[in-house]
Amino acid sequence: MKQFSSIKIAGTGSFLPDKIVTNADLEKIVDTSDEWIVTRSGIKERRIAENGVTTSYMSSKAALRAIDAAGLKPSDIQMIIVATVTPDHLFPATACLVQEAIGANNAAAFDLSAACSGFVSALSVGSSFIESGLYDNVLIIGADTLSKITDWQDRSTCVLFGDGAGATVLRRSDKGSRILYQTMGSDGSGSDLLVVPAGGSGMPASEETVKNRDHFIKMKGNELFKWAVKKMKDLISDAIEATNISVDDIKYIVPHQVNIRIISAALKRLEIPLEKVEINLDKYGNTSSASVPIALDELVRRNVIKKGDKVLMVAFGSGLTWATFLIEW
Ligand code: UT7
Repeated sequence: MKQFSSIKIAGTGSFLPDKIVTNADLEKIVDTSDEWIVTRSGIKERRIAENGVTTSYMSSKAALRAIDAAGLKPSDIQMIIVATVTPDHLFPATACLVQEAIGANNAAAFDLSAACSGFVSALSVGSSFIESGLYDNVLIIGADTLSKITDWQDRSTCVLFGDGAGATVLRRSDKGSRILYQTMGSDGSGSDLLVVPAGGSGMPASEETVKNRDHFIKMKGNELFKWAVKKMKDLISDAIEATNISVDDIKYIVPHQVNIRIISAALKRLEIPLEKVEINLDKYGNTSSASVPIALDELVRRNVIKKGDKVLMVAFGSGLTWATFLIEW
């Protein structure tokens, strides 16, 4: 098995918009019901960004909390990666806006686009820079404002998503914390399963694209559902096999908060109890790249992760893309 350098998650932080939209609120705008949404997805409510609450704004709030928790100053950060598919602008990178907003004046900054897998992929990218010896302190952010690209007339998608941001500071570690395993993968043959067709060079924004609602999320939910169950199951079993540990050795699994049925079905196949898994999708819905770091931050702030605990993060989504990151705390 490949040995990775000693790297630790030195601090975590998250930010959620104040505005809560319940299933009952959605019943007023599309033909849906609380009962359908809860039984099909597990989601009860989600946070939605008010006007002016952007991806960079939420990222900056989460970042400052993570930097503070790490006992660092923004000027100590040498690299910022923002994993997002809802950047404030096509360019410049949202990471550059964050760099300015938090005063991280010594940091290189760029965005990473891997949808729901973005944050876990960015952990791998960021830790590689530490591993290479180039940097010591890397800020990884997962943030999305999917409400801005959600079709609020499409009941099959608008009930699923929410907004938020989560951040972690990765640092070189001298006290035993280490990465045990990491993977990233992709399969572009499934790129049509979850897509925003317009607004890029393939279909530039025009009156026509707006009229056709092509600047909003289009999802083939059923196909994605089946793929996601198998992918989540395979990612967890691959991590266990590659590291030669057992399920019992893993203290917590922090999965992409996609749908309680997807998570439960994957766990059932592996005979893993739901208690091992951090779930917050009932409160926040699917927040895309923010879902894993928000859940991780909530776990950390409950003070339940102890030194030596193994924590497995697993994410998958549009692209198709997937990523796994197993760390010993
Ligand atoms: O994070 C990135 C990855 N995203 C995913 O992996 C999402 C994966 N997919 C899913 O989570 C599920 O497919 C959904 C939650 C989106 C849908 O659940 P489903 O059990 O696959 O439902 P369905 O799409 O098969 O729809 C069943 C019925 C349909 O009606 P008919 O055709 O049976 O009459 C839909 O029109 O439910 C209807 N429906 C709704 N009814 C009430 C779809 N959306 C709604 C709704 N409220 N919001």
